[in-house]
Amino acid sequence: MNKLDTALVTSALQDAGFSLTESVKEADVVLINTCSVREHAEQRVLSHLGHLKHIKKSRPDMVVGVIGCMAQRLGDKLLEHEAVNIVCGPTQIPQIADLLKQAFEKNEKRLAVTEKILQKTTDIQNQTLERFESAYGIEDKQIPSQAFVRAMRGCNNFCAYCIVPYVRGPEVCRPPEAIIEQIKRLASKGIKQVTLLGQTVNSYKYKKGRKTWCLADLLDAASDIEGIEWLKFVTSYPSEEFFNEIMQVMADSPKVCNYLHIPAQSGSDKILRAMNRHYSSRWYLELLAKARAAVPGIAIAGDFIVGFSGETEDDFEATVELLKKAQYKNSFIFKYSPRPGTTADKRLEDTVPAEVKQKRIAKLLAAQEKISDQLSRDFLDKEVKVLVEGLSKKSHRNIAGSPDNPQLVGRIATDYIVVFNGPMSLAGRFAKVKIIKTSPLTLFGELI
Ligand code: 5AD
Ligand code: SF4
Repeated sequence: MNKLDTALVTSALQDAGFSLTESVKEADVVLINTCSVREHAEQRVLSHLGHLKHIKKSRPDMVVGVIGCMAQRLGDKLLEHEAVNIVCGPTQIPQIADLLKQAFEKNEKRLAVTEKILQKTTDIQNQTLERFESAYGIEDKQIPSQAFVRAMRGCNNFCAYCIVPYVRGPEVCRPPEAIIEQIKRLASKGIKQVTLLGQTVNSYKYKKGRKTWCLADLLDAASDIEGIEWLKFVTSYPSEEFFNEIMQVMADSPKVCNYLHIPAQSGSDKILRAMNRHYSSRWYLELLAKARAAVPGIAIAGDFIVGFSGETEDDFEATVELLKKAQYKNSFIFKYSPRPGTTADKRLEDTVPAEVKQKRIAKLLAAQEKISDQLSRDFLDKEVKVLVEGLSKKSHRNIAGSPDNPQLVGRIATDYIVVFNGPMSLAGRFAKVKIIKTSPLTLFGELI
């Protein structure tokens, strides 16, 4: 979601005459796009701002803007920071070019956030965001051939630990014709893979005439677009609604990738209740079984929070059990970080000591690594189709690159990362690769 916002803001500013620079020292403007999901992310922003304050001593004309969730959460408090000129929430990003111009011309601090974030966004706000999104959501310059398209904004779920509903506001689904139109334009520019985005993307719902569109309808319509070869979507909330329809379109359409990111967060029913997640661990595992029955070979990924308020050793063991049974391709695992304003922060104590959270995260990561390693091994000696992203940032041992045959990285339809040597001209294209070695998170191969 944040990457997409960064791409949109970058395109909008280029359109307004700005150009990108890699170095802070050269920049007239520094924009920091922020996330508030965990405290650690916010602390990093504050440390960047401390650094910028220092730079601004010798360059007082430099304009510094904070955009995104932290801007919405802290608002004028953030504007008081010596280094900060602009604070702009996620709903206000269409105003970013104007805010910058004002900051340059008048040398004033500017605040643009939503006052009553829990209220539904107005039609005018939605239309403004829609225009901005359709105008600038056309290319991801970072990865050739791939693009992210927002299906919905915000979230209505109010999981007890989560700040998202308080910084991104209530759920708003984009009109299906706007989404499909955008994907067609992306396809005409050579985009091959589109990932539909939403905090709970599987609950996408839009009433149009007599028909209510769900995510399965979007995927189905997008499958008909010539040039688009792979469709993915993240993130799904464990829910029965539309689940069969979505699995059906995944099974039926060769373009819809067999990949499902569906966080469980915990394996303890007591903790799931405290988190305000509306399912039990047993029900969740049954849902995964349904997915596997409908789509054989589907790769499933999860998220977990360890050390949530009141989590005992037994609760944690239930999480380890669930993780093992779920057989995830990979899991994103986080230590619970209390967020101001959430119900968990207001009503529950952060009972689990830091060192216990640390022990639990290490144990859960190790359990996941074992599973990932086993699942990866199935790929040994197999041929896979990779959408190549470009040069591999990490240089991996055992595969030496050369200038005309560097180490490339890409992903397969089920989201596994593949590293292999090949010409740079493959970036943005599909390649056939034979897997010769595996590790828990990466497959290594040879170009066929
Ligand atoms: N502390 C730790 N992890 C969190 N997440 C969301 N809120 C918190 C929090 N307060 C995790 C969840 C979610 C992912 C995006 O971030 O696992 O799925
Ligand atoms: Fe946060 Fe829960 Fe919404 Fe996900 S579903 S964004 S965890 S409130």
